[in-house]
Amino acid sequence: MKLIVANWKMYPKTVAEAKAIFSGIKKGASRAKHTRVVVCPPHLFVGGLVAAAGKARIAIGGQNAFFDDEGAKTGETSPAALKNIGATYAIVGHSERRALGETDEVIAAKACAAVRNKLSVILCVGEHNRDEHGAYFAEVSAQLRASLAGFPKTEAKRLVVAYEPIWAIGAKAKRAATPPDFCEMSILIRRYLTELFGKKVAFTIPILYGGSVDDRNALPFLVEGGADGLLVGRVSLDVGKFNTIITLADTCK
Ligand code: PGA
Repeated sequence: MKLIVANWKMYPKTVAEAKAIFSGIKKGASRAKHTRVVVCPPHLFVGGLVAAAGKARIAIGGQNAFFDDEGAKTGETSPAALKNIGATYAIVGHSERRALGETDEVIAAKACAAVRNKLSVILCVGEHNRDEHGAYFAEVSAQLRASLAGFPKTEAKRLVVAYEPIWAIGAKAKRAATPPDFCEMSILIRRYLTELFGKKVAFTIPILYGGSVDDRNALPFLVEGGADGLLVGRVSLDVGKFNTIITLADTCK
């Protein structure tokens, strides 16, 4: 069972477009037999898409959630409210939020708050650069350690880790990340999860690849790279391409 997550970022800009894109993805998700699909729209659209999802096999997630359930925190999203409106996932620690100044400490608190509210957490980690000495392994290990500080062992079933190599994302990327790049890092991530949760539990935690995924590289990351799923940004707003990714993932079982 692969997990395919759409991260819409700040798109689209109208409810009508959000509903149209979602309706297309819902059809693709409904055809899939072995694939779980999660759509993370801007928070403004979460309630509308939960209603549009109805009983279909598609989940809705937030792109972020605060570490307190309530309070005088202007502009923040309560994880309790996110859960109550019908979301079941929250992305935490996305590289774009880390770039806005979010620290591992804040991310750890957000991950705990999300699972406290029975949301599944998609925790993002990833190094800035790849150096020939392998310092990037230490960077990702440190991120994992700090971002999972205090994470309750009993909530491992609600944890998903997404690996996003920052150097491979965007137009200025030096090169694309490859399935072997992912495979190597997923071994390190799995080893750390084993230390934290024990082997049996660690092997049930999905590790996703998320960095410039499209309909051409999706299958190689899933098959050759052994990814348990994908976190898809830009391409998740293109119904045709995203549904192709779902169909490809479904061939993997
Ligand atoms: P991208 O974004 O697929 O547009 O690179 C992935 C992500 O950052 O979630």
